[in-house]
Amino acid sequence: MPLSHRWTLTRYLIEERRRFPTASGDLNTLLLDVALACKTIARIVAFGSLGDSLGAASVPQAGGTNVQGEVQKPLDMLSNEIFIRMSEWNGHLAGMASEEMDEPRQIPGAYPRGKYLLVFDPLDGSSNIDVNVSVGSIFSILRAPQEVVDSGRDVVEADFLQPGTTQVAAGYALYGPVTMLVLTVGNGVAGFTLNPNLGEFVLSHPNIRVPADTTEFAINSSNSRFWEPPVKRYVDECLAGKPGPRGKDFNMRWIASMVAEAHRILMRGGVFMYPRDTKDPAKPGRLRLLYEANPVGMVMEQAGGRASTGRQPVLGITPTALHQRIGLVFGSRNEVERIERYHHDPAMRDSGTPLFAERSLFRN
Ligand code: AHG
Ligand code: MN
Ligand code: MN
Repeated sequence: MPLSHRWTLTRYLIEERRRFPTASGDLNTLLLDVALACKTIARIVAFGSLGDSLGAASVPQAGGTNVQGEVQKPLDMLSNEIFIRMSEWNGHLAGMASEEMDEPRQIPGAYPRGKYLLVFDPLDGSSNIDVNVSVGSIFSILRAPQEVVDSGRDVVEADFLQPGTTQVAAGYALYGPVTMLVLTVGNGVAGFTLNPNLGEFVLSHPNIRVPADTTEFAINSSNSRFWEPPVKRYVDECLAGKPGPRGKDFNMRWIASMVAEAHRILMRGGVFMYPRDTKDPAKPGRLRLLYEANPVGMVMEQAGGRASTGRQPVLGITPTALHQRIGLVFGSRNEVERIERYHHDPAMRDSGTPLFAERSLFRN
């Protein structure tokens, strides 16, 4: 298709907004600033170990923040800074929160405050950055409580503790062989590919749907001795392949960038698991609810997939802390539902770690 016939991200957002004639356009402006932050991070990531000077230059000086020593900072701190600087000024945010900040971030007094909250993982999979494997950024947009908007007061942790079902928009950017932005504004999922010549995200994957079935799963199996019985059962059954209870062979992947796994699953199906396990009883899962599980969960559900803790839909959980961790299972609907069934199976809960629980039901 000629370039001139393709929709840009801007056009997509405007066409979506037309469904709501009274909408102000604030959300669109905010999303375009988030997209610009992602494009900036993409350029820095693409320069790899050559990128120190570019990295420093890419942090806007206009915010009055001293960037002294910025090049020494890890790339996820730099990405965090880029997200902040590129979205704090526009007047549409009441506050922000991110993986890299212990506390919510206030909008500086120099700028007006708006009605949205931006929550993000500025660089997901950053352990992969030094080995040239895909990384990404994940973002979630919530409405600020009305009382915050009315008063203009500083945001506090409690303002962010909203279930994933309340997200207004969510998505991620993937810095892979090509840079992509995948977005939902609550009306399906659209994928945009960065045209590096134009510096524009161009709609390349309208209406993404996750296949309901799959023969591909992703889990860090070095944790297998800590898995709970339902997870162990599910993986054992996949590994048993054609002669096993599933009657088909499965393939496995583990990138260690959740954002890249999510993208693969959106494109061709699959199931991702970072379940709750017994490794560290203080941590109910590895991934964070507000800026990893919820935005990816919304994208999955909007694409016809499913996102769960294994026990319940992830988007239904009311968070108790900004950096709360959670067990996460997402992807092809039928597989996620199967994993949920295993979690609810009383035989799985009561038994030790049987290979196939249903068989144990027939033991005397
Ligand atoms: P982050 O880089 O934002 O801290 O997140 C990394 C996460 C996620 O992307 C990935 O799936 C997981 O950590 C990898 O965990 P393991 O190192 O246990 O494989
Ligand atoms: Mn992450
Ligand atoms: Mn991160």
